[in-house]
Amino acid sequence: MSAAAAAASTDPSSFASAAKCATRHLNLNLNVDFDARVIRGKVALTLEVLEDRFSSLTLDTRDLKIVSVSANGQEARFAMGAKHAFKGTPLEVTLPFDLSRGQNVIVEVSYETSPGAPALQWLTPEQTAGKKQPYLFSQCQAHHCRSMLPCQDTPAIKHTYYAQVSVPKDLVAAMSAVRDWQEADPRDATRMVYRFRQNVAMPSYLIALVVGALESRQIGPRSTVWSEAEYVDRAAFEFSETEAMLKTAEDLAGPYVWGRYDILVLPPSFPYGGMENPCLTFATPTLLAGDKSLSNVIAHEISHSWTGNLVTNKTWEHFWLNEGHTVYLERMIGRRLEGEPFRQFKASGGWKDLQDSVSTFGAENPLTTLVPDLRDVDPDDAFSSVPYEKGFALLYHLEELLGGPEVFMGFVKSYIQMFAYKSVTTEQWKDFLFTYFKDKADVLNKVDWNAWMFTPGMPPVKPRYDSTLADACIALCRRWTEAKEGDLRGFGAADLEALSSHQIVEFLSLLLQEKPLPLSHVKKMQEVYDLDSRANSEVRFRWLRLCVRSRWEEAVPAALRMATEQGRMKFTRPLFREVYNFEKYRDEAVRVFLDGRGAMHPVTSGLVAKDLKVAS
Ligand code: BES
Ligand code: ZN
Repeated sequence: MSAAAAAASTDPSSFASAAKCATRHLNLNLNVDFDARVIRGKVALTLEVLEDRFSSLTLDTRDLKIVSVSANGQEARFAMGAKHAFKGTPLEVTLPFDLSRGQNVIVEVSYETSPGAPALQWLTPEQTAGKKQPYLFSQCQAHHCRSMLPCQDTPAIKHTYYAQVSVPKDLVAAMSAVRDWQEADPRDATRMVYRFRQNVAMPSYLIALVVGALESRQIGPRSTVWSEAEYVDRAAFEFSETEAMLKTAEDLAGPYVWGRYDILVLPPSFPYGGMENPCLTFATPTLLAGDKSLSNVIAHEISHSWTGNLVTNKTWEHFWLNEGHTVYLERMIGRRLEGEPFRQFKASGGWKDLQDSVSTFGAENPLTTLVPDLRDVDPDDAFSSVPYEKGFALLYHLEELLGGPEVFMGFVKSYIQMFAYKSVTTEQWKDFLFTYFKDKADVLNKVDWNAWMFTPGMPPVKPRYDSTLADACIALCRRWTEAKEGDLRGFGAADLEALSSHQIVEFLSLLLQEKPLPLSHVKKMQEVYDLDSRANSEVRFRWLRLCVRSRWEEAVPAALRMATEQGRMKFTRPLFREVYNFEKYRDEAVRVFLDGRGAMHPVTSGLVAKDLKVAS
């Protein structure tokens, strides 16, 4: 590739004809049918025409049944193209008239989703905490919105939306928007209609829907937590610092434009730690176990309100613009709230996560480039820490070169202002960087841009990190890796007493980069530290991997339990892979996966199938 491919502004993950017309608004009318596991809907797209003699367009769909299409109220012809493995099926619409550049048209599509739609997970009552009501949630990022509704499913296009959603009357609906009003469904007394409006233009991947037995509790002047009744109190406690983080973020990045910032805690199968759906961050319930505030997930998702949701990557090849800047902002919030040594500690931990991703993919793998070529790649397969941590490392390296955190944050704030409400490419970002720092062109010209952006493997330079907080973790890791059998009695519970939870996580991560410890060592570690009784998911995840890696057979069932009882891919995929790599239990890993996959999220199930080399 790849500079050229990445610079081209067409989206390799979409069929939509984004150069001919652009969606400005969506009006959604959805009916959620839990028995059939389908959404029946009508979507009206307000399109701005971008060319003369315009009379046809292509929308993205995936596994949708299209019932009818109209344009400004007149019936329109439509045809489905060939189905693509991960892009879905293009929907070709022919208008019964011609339009010219600058005109608008309303295209309305009636459709039905399929029960296997990758954007949606349908849970039975048994799969919920309350056990009485079914549950539905969506996860559209990166390219799955098209399986929930026909649309121009590319982050290059932004639009507002209104929605009305009819659901069984004992359930509550919520969306990535501001709640409007609700009423009994005039067409069906057993149902309720909920209405929402999103008045800030945003890309399709940020459309989100949840339907379940939801309760809510206010946690701040603009924030409420939503979840099943069983989680609400713990969630309100865990997320009580939300307003302080929002204020800090506004101080760093500019005004928060989305009105509300609510948090939804999902059932355990939610595949990510968090998802920045506007007005309503989605979060995994694994954040609720154990020590409060060990997690950076909310600071991260809040940060996306600027980088990602206001300034958006133009295609998924530029995903690092979303995630790298968001990690940078997230760590600036950490700096304000916990101090610079804490930011340095998290930054060096990030470098280590990058090393892990590069070694898992292989240093030659094109997916380890900052700006990958996605012409034949499913964005779900490309997902890793690389855009997060190589992106962060680049920004942090530039910060070092250009004058430190205050100076570089000034650039990030201007970048946000400059590109707010737009979608950007890496090239536009770089041009703006050179403009902003025009007095420091000599410094910028020394950066090996080609190596940073288009070369696989680790970056060309390693930034410097202060190791004040990491030193204790490094020292304890070294004591364990160097210990002979006879040294084991020197370890004791006191070793961990001086360490914060963050440092314990770091200590375990460091051990995971070393050769497997002898089984006797890991058993001793359990005896003196009792890591098995720690509920915190970040600790437990690494601890179980360490045990399995040292071939501790008793840890295998526990590792498989964690892999299936929650479905956050960051935990579930490595846990399954770890057991799979223990030959004696390889078949067991596959068996547990095959048994449980019916209850898994469709995307998680597809990726674990690939990881375990099982047919999907
Ligand atoms: N936007 C991502 C989640 C995502 C990325 C979903 C790509 C689908 C495709 C979200 O903001 C995220 O990065 N979540 C992280 C949080 C972490 C970096 C603090 C996660 O889920 O672990
Ligand atoms: Zn993110």
